[in-house]
Amino acid sequence: MEKLKVVVVSNDIDAKINIKNLLNDESIAISGFLEYDSMTNLKIFGYNPDVAILIYDRREGQIYEIAAQVYEQLQGTSVILLSEDIDIDILKKAMQHGVKQVLPLKTTSQELKEAVYKSYNLEKKRLSDNAACKNTRSKVICFFGGKGGTGKTTIAVNTAVQLALSGKKTVIIDADLQFGDVTVLLDLDPKDTIYELSREKGDMSIDVVKSMLSLHSSGLDVLAAPKSPELSEYINEKTLEMIINTIRPYYEYIIVDLPPGFNDTTIAVIENSDIVNLVASVDIVALRNAKICFGILEALRQRDKIALILNKSADGIIEKKDFETILNLETRICLPDDTKTVLASLNKGIPFIMGMPKSTISKLIQAYVKTL
Ligand SMILES: Nc1ncnc2c1ncn2[C@@H]1O[C@H](COP(=O)(O)OP(=O)(O)O)[C@@H](O)[C@H]1O
Ligand SMILES: [Mg+2]
Repeated sequence: MEKLKVVVVSNDIDAKINIKNLLNDESIAISGFLEYDSMTNLKIFGYNPDVAILIYDRREGQIYEIAAQVYEQLQGTSVILLSEDIDIDILKKAMQHGVKQVLPLKTTSQELKEAVYKSYNLEKKRLSDNAACKNTRSKVICFFGGKGGTGKTTIAVNTAVQLALSGKKTVIIDADLQFGDVTVLLDLDPKDTIYELSREKGDMSIDVVKSMLSLHSSGLDVLAAPKSPELSEYINEKTLEMIINTIRPYYEYIIVDLPPGFNDTTIAVIENSDIVNLVASVDIVALRNAKICFGILEALRQRDKIALILNKSADGIIEKKDFETILNLETRICLPDDTKTVLASLNKGIPFIMGMPKSTISKLIQAYVKTL
């Protein structure tokens, strides 16, 4: 077996010698001893070790930055932190910055070797998990419309949940940055949102995005909208484009729920989507609005991606075929007006596709999802 390459970082020469003695093992090779300075992370990158052991010294605030940079940019290298005393604060910060193991400085040889092997294996697993998902052909599907209240969010959420329930690796991004309500429909209380993600320093990576996601019981990953409307200012079209491109290789389906109307961010999402679901309720105002949206999407050269989704269909003057004739587009799905089912699911915080899978509206979405 090839030896595991380890680098040790500390400003204390005795501590380094101590680690060298503790790691006396035929399967482990110490390839470098480094000090803390402005180049430490670059030097670690240069060694490209399997494990970097950072010895914590309270004067070294940069230690967490180094750990985070190694975690994000040097896939295959795991970080172990050794500290004279360990408290909750150190443990919490270490975890947040991608450190795999935290050990007391006065550790035994066996404990240290076990930590080296364990963190090496954890990092290998992270790499293979990422590789397994990577390069799956992903589809980005957004739900759009010129009007609020047509059912974009309701249909986006139920579609996403059904995809996740069928075992597809799926994420939903709530890109209604001011009034996003995806987490309300899913009864989730997210810690982090797209806002916290946009405030992250450094390059965006799949690990950073994943750390901001909430997991729904269906297996669906959720990137929530900001918790307050004014925070939407901090997120622009570049952020959304970057998020979609970063997660694309890791998901089979990326569902994006959009706010009504055209602005820089909705246009960026539309341009980065494979399918643009134009959602309209079946009434005269919605028909006029859908026609205007259709014209704009055509001008943006997005016509080929458009799929028409009709919602809240009931007996009335306007029918599905009026939409099809005027837009010269076939309807992908036409969902009935079913306040009872939709409201009950809202009140319970369980999407109807899960809570009432036998209802007509659920069956129509299940059939639609099979065609995606
Ligand atoms: N098929 C339907 N039947 C009855 N009510 C519906 C239906 N679809 C959506 N609704 C309700 O219409 C309102 C608007 O839906 P929502 O999904 O939030 O629309 P949007 O995201 O387009 O603003 C919500 O109260 C929702 O519960
Ligand atoms: Mg909505």
